Amino acid sequence: MRRAVDLAAGGVGCVEPNPAVGAVVVDDQLRVLGEGWHGAFGGPHAEVEALQAAGELARGATLVVTLEPCRHHGQTPPCTDAVLASGIRRVVVGIEDPSPHAAGSGLSVLRDAGVEIEVGVEGELVRRLNSPFLHLLETGRPWVHAKWAMTLDGRIAAAGGHSQWISSEDSRGLVHELRGRVDAVVVGIGTAAVDDPLLTARPPGPRRATRVVLDTNARLKLDSQLVRTAHDTPVMVACSETVDEARAGALAAAGVDIVKVPLAESGRIDFRLLLDEFGIRRWTNVLVEGGSEVLGTLADGGWIDEAHVFLAPKLVGGRTALGAVGGEGLPRIPETANLECVETRAVGQDVYWRGVRPRVVGRRDS
Ligand SMILES: NC(=O)c1ccc[n+]([C@@H]2O[C@H](COP(=O)([O-])OP(=O)(O)OC[C@H]3O[C@@H](n4cnc5c(N)ncnc54)[C@H](OP(=O)(O)O)[C@@H]3O)[C@@H](O)[C@H]2O)c1
Repeated sequence: MRRAVDLAAGGVGCVEPNPAVGAVVVDDQLRVLGEGWHGAFGGPHAEVEALQAAGELARGATLVVTLEPCRHHGQTPPCTDAVLASGIRRVVVGIEDPSPHAAGSGLSVLRDAGVEIEVGVEGELVRRLNSPFLHLLETGRPWVHAKWAMTLDGRIAAAGGHSQWISSEDSRGLVHELRGRVDAVVVGIGTAAVDDPLLTARPPGPRRATRVVLDTNARLKLDSQLVRTAHDTPVMVACSETVDEARAGALAAAGVDIVKVPLAESGRIDFRLLLDEFGIRRWTNVLVEGGSEVLGTLADGGWIDEAHVFLAPKLVGGRTALGAVGGEGLPRIPETANLECVETRAVGQDVYWRGVRPRVVGRRDS
């Protein structure tokens, strides 16, 4: 199963909003007879790839697959048909597919046909790999990645707002990779105004993220890099329902998608409703890149599912230099970890720290 999970990981960033799935066909001595993974949305499923690779050797063998095989006609025929046609004797599954069209029904079909079934092998590992897929299914909202680069003293910009560059070129390369596998890259208008960023993945990754600006009054400049490139890579401005129509109209005419969102009590875009809007578009992963106020909204609302932090060996100091996470904050140091570390490593001169919500590390359904 661990091999199947490794194979599945090859589809991350390519298959969403589908889950990443891997499969291995083995004989009784656990010799590998065939392998496969779901590599592209709409493309062949992992089980079918593995069964095809195994060919006739699949007869009487075991299929190990990270997710319950599908039994419905989607963009490809049901995998349960392929499993039955192959003569597979036993199917070992990581987790059931909680999608409404599945939810155990694929396993029932196989069981009823006399195939031996085992479920829950390395379920934790499979759940973790597919956290964004499962989160979208459970909540209707995408998985929120928050990213920031900070100095040793926790600043994301110098006192005057200057922030380019805090992290090393290697770290920025990693951020570009991240951008290339998410559905949206989000910033606040503060960052858009000060940095005039492009927010594209360079080089491009498997997905082309929509660039989103939280901009209550549609202040984004028409000559900004974002607006000037809106016809090549989509740009969305999330603004208030009472926005000045002339301003919003000018942005729309320049190719920007204007999305009106009710305001929260703070008088700013209601982030929960914006996430609902993202979910309707079946966006599975969104990457929020700052600045401090937007990250503060995320932290205050408990919206951060995964954090990517780059710690650069620099000191900037200054009482008014922005800290990484603004917002209201907590009155006291929390007793438990807000985020659980899942990865830490050196990237060039920097330290890369990645963490997820603690509940994600445990069973997602507990
Ligand atoms: N080192 C890093 O990783 C990094 C990354 C990004 C930015 N930065 C730096 O951070 C600085 C900008 O940060 P910032 O805190 O001033 O601005 P910001 O977080 O980029 O944008 C904040 C603005 O976004 C708008 N907004 C709309 N809805 C919001 C919501 N729900 N929550 C929060 N904001 C919302 C508000 O303006 P309206 O009310 O007008 O809509 C708000 O003032 C710049 O100096 C930039 O260089 C550093």
